[in-house]
Amino acid sequence: MKKIALVTGGTRGIGGGIARRLKEAGYRVAANYHKDVAAAQKFHAETAIPIFSWDVSDYESCARGVEDVCAMMEGSIDILINNAGITRDGMLHKMEPSSWQLVLDTNLTSVFNMCRLVIGPMREKKFGRIINMSSVNGVKGQIGQSNYSATKAGIIGFTKSLALESASRGITVNAVAPGYISTDMTDAIREDVREKIVAGIPMGRFGKIDEIAQAVLYLVDENASYVTGITLNINGGQYL
Ligand code: CAA
Repeated sequence: MKKIALVTGGTRGIGGGIARRLKEAGYRVAANYHKDVAAAQKFHAETAIPIFSWDVSDYESCARGVEDVCAMMEGSIDILINNAGITRDGMLHKMEPSSWQLVLDTNLTSVFNMCRLVIGPMREKKFGRIINMSSVNGVKGQIGQSNYSATKAGIIGFTKSLALESASRGITVNAVAPGYISTDMTDAIREDVREKIVAGIPMGRFGKIDEIAQAVLYLVDENASYVTGITLNINGGQYL
């Protein structure tokens, strides 16, 4: 039986690229989205991957979403890609408490919500693959991203802990930390700031979605069974 993969934030950007590659590799794929119905419908029309709308920051919403996915796919989730995430960039001295909380809930609490809901069946099956999307900015920090960087660093600690808890159950839990990848999220960066960022990337360019998706394909493979608790940095050579 082909493995069932769920990608959150899976209809656009990096998540959309991962979902497409997983499908091409033969997995049964479901994609979650939240608000952008037009983009999700376009993605579905192009890929035939089933799409499900729910708010990853809300536990009950996730519970209903996971139930719907399992019902449609006729099985429990074998592979979870926690990709959904947002930015609300701003210098800390100007940041509203609401921007802090929204980013925390959407990027980090979501990872708890989704893992909490899939981990039981994975433990029973003695198989699972969980990938949590971190970021270069969770590893090294970034001006204007105290909220986002906190979530992406938090994801690394969460990943290591869940990897330890799951190691004896055939479940691997890893983080992928992309650098600046060309997507809607990075398109929104101001031109003058973007130039400074590119100047700090040894490869001198933003990355491509496929450069992340291919790495995820490796980590979710059944044969990547001895890789757990790592953070895979894919960032064109950016380090501290
Ligand atoms: N490198 C070096 N200096 C930087 C910088 C950078 N990346 N970003 C900002 N600065 C400097 C500015 O030049 C400025 O310096 P001075 O005070 O000496 O003039 C200072 O920091 C304050 O910055 P701004 O003048 O830009 O302040 P602002 O309040 O107008 O705007 C901001 C703040 C909205 C956060 C803006 O700086 C910004 O958009 N920064 C980009 C943040 C960023 O990288 N976001 C990543 C989005 S993509 C993503 O998150 C995906 C991922 O995982 C990588």
